[in-house]
Amino acid sequence: MSFNPKLCRNESEVESKLIVQYLLPILGYDASTWHQEVALGSIRLDFLALISPIIPTSSDSFPKAFPKICVVMEAKHPKQNLNFHVRRLRRYLSNLQVLYGVLTNGKDFRIYELDGDGINLIFQCQGLEITDKIPKIKDIIGRDKLAGLETSQSQSSIDFPIPIKNITLPSEPISLVTSEPITMKTIAIYHNKGGVGKTTTTINLAAAMSRKGLKVLIIDLDSQANTTYAAGLMKFDNEDDDMLKDGNVYNVIHYPRSNYIPDIALKGSFTYPAVDVIPAHINLIWQENTLIDQESSKFQLVKKLELVRDQYDVVLIDTPPSLNLYAKIALIACDYLIIPSDLKPFANEGLRNVRNFIQEIDEFRSYTNRNGIKVLGVLPSKILTNANYIKATLPKQEKVIAERYGFPVLETRIFQREDLSRAVDNFILEGDIQTPDPKSIFDFKPDSISAAEFEELANEVLNKIGMRP
Ligand SMILES: Nc1ncnc2c1ncn2[C@@H]1O[C@H](COP(=O)(O)OP(=O)(O)OP(=O)(O)O)[C@@H](O)[C@H]1O
Ligand SMILES: [Mg+2]
Repeated sequence: MSFNPKLCRNESEVESKLIVQYLLPILGYDASTWHQEVALGSIRLDFLALISPIIPTSSDSFPKAFPKICVVMEAKHPKQNLNFHVRRLRRYLSNLQVLYGVLTNGKDFRIYELDGDGINLIFQCQGLEITDKIPKIKDIIGRDKLAGLETSQSQSSIDFPIPIKNITLPSEPISLVTSEPITMKTIAIYHNKGGVGKTTTTINLAAAMSRKGLKVLIIDLDSQANTTYAAGLMKFDNEDDDMLKDGNVYNVIHYPRSNYIPDIALKGSFTYPAVDVIPAHINLIWQENTLIDQESSKFQLVKKLELVRDQYDVVLIDTPPSLNLYAKIALIACDYLIIPSDLKPFANEGLRNVRNFIQEIDEFRSYTNRNGIKVLGVLPSKILTNANYIKATLPKQEKVIAERYGFPVLETRIFQREDLSRAVDNFILEGDIQTPDPKSIFDFKPDSISAAEFEELANEVLNKIGMRP
C-alpha cells in the first residue's frame, strides 16, 4: 500500500487519507486503539494513538492516569507551514507528558519526541517519501515498537496533571472554561458611532505590534469590510474573483465543527512582518438573520480563539458601528476593549450606549463563567491639530469622559493627519490600471508623526495588558 500526497487537498483529506486510511493501520493501530477529536481539559487533539484501548469504567468516569507511551497526531491544511504549529504540539506533549507527536500537512511529515518540557524533531520527510520511509517511522512510533518500550520501562503511566474530562465523540462541545492561564490577549476596538477611527486603529495597532515581533491576528466583524480592504485583501474588482465570499468570518462563526481560524485566516499585505486576518464580507448583512436563529453562533469565536491561543500573542477585533450581533460577538470574545472616539458631542452621546452594551454583554458572559470586559479606555482619535483646541478644549473633553461616562481615557492621542488616510488609499499604477495597495502607516511613512503616535499607543496598550513592550 502506498501513499500519494496529491490526494490530500485540504485538512480533512490529510486526516482521512493520510492518517486514518494509511498511517494508523500500517503502524499497527486498529480502531480500538486510536481516537479522533480527543478533548482533554482545554486541549483538543486531532488524533491519539494508544498501545492498548482505554476503556472507561463507567459512562462518565475515565482513567486518572494517562499513558505516557502513545502518539498525538496533528493534521494541518497542505498550505499550512508546520513551523507555526510546533509550539502548540509542544504544549500538548509537555502538558500530557506524551512521548511522541506527529505533525503533518500531507507534504511535510514530522515526528517530535518529548524531552523534559520541550520537544525535539527526531524524524522528517516529504509526503512523497512517506511510503519508502515506513520501516523507519514504524521503528519510532509503530504500535509494536511502543509496546516493547512499555515493557522495558517500569513507569508506564503518569498522573494526569489536569482532570481528564472526556474522551469525546466529535460532536461534544469544547469547554469554554479553562484551568490554564491564557497568554493570548484579545482586544476589541469598538464604538457604536461610525467613522471615529476604529478601523484605522485596528490596522495600525496591529502593524505596530507585529513590528515588535508579536504574532497578531485581526478579525474583521464589520460587513463594510473596511479592515479587510485596508489589510490588502480586496485587490479584485470583478465579483467572480471574490474568493472571500466562501472564506470569511461568517464561516468561523457559523460552523461549529469546521472552519477553524487557520483554515480561514489570510496573510494581510499591508504590513511587514505579515499579520493574519480573518476577513469580513458584505454578505454578513443578510447572513446576520441566519446567525441570530442559531444561539451557538455567539460562542463560536470564543471557542475557536481558544484553539489558537498558542499561535497568536494578540488578537484585534474590528467591529461595526452598531449594537448588532457582530458587535455582540466581538464583545463576548474579547478580554479588553478600546473605544476610539473623536470626542465630539455625538460620539460622547454614543458612549452611554457603549456603557449599557458592555453591561448587557458582561451579564451574558457571567453565564459562561467569563470575567467582565476590561475597558482599556477611550482612545482620543482623529483629534484636531489646532493648538488652541489642544490646549483649551481637549483636556476638558477628556475629563468629561471619565466624569460623565465612567470610562478611563488612554494617554495616547491619535491626531487627524492626512498621512493616515493616504496610507489606506495607496495604490499601484501599472500602465493605466490602478490596483489598491493599502499600507499601514509604518509601511507607508515610517518616520511620520502618525507612526510615532501608533507606536506610543502600542506601548501603552501592551503595558496595560501585561505584555511589556
Ligand atoms: N487620525 C486620522 N487622521 C486622518 N484621517 C483619519 C484618521 N482616523 C481615521 N481617518 C479617516 O477617517 C475615515 C473613518 O475612519 P475609520 O474607517 O478608521 O473609522 P471607523 O470608526 O472604523 O468607521 P466605521 O464606523 O464606518 O467602521 C477613514 O477615511 C479614515 O481614513
Ligand atoms: Mg470601521
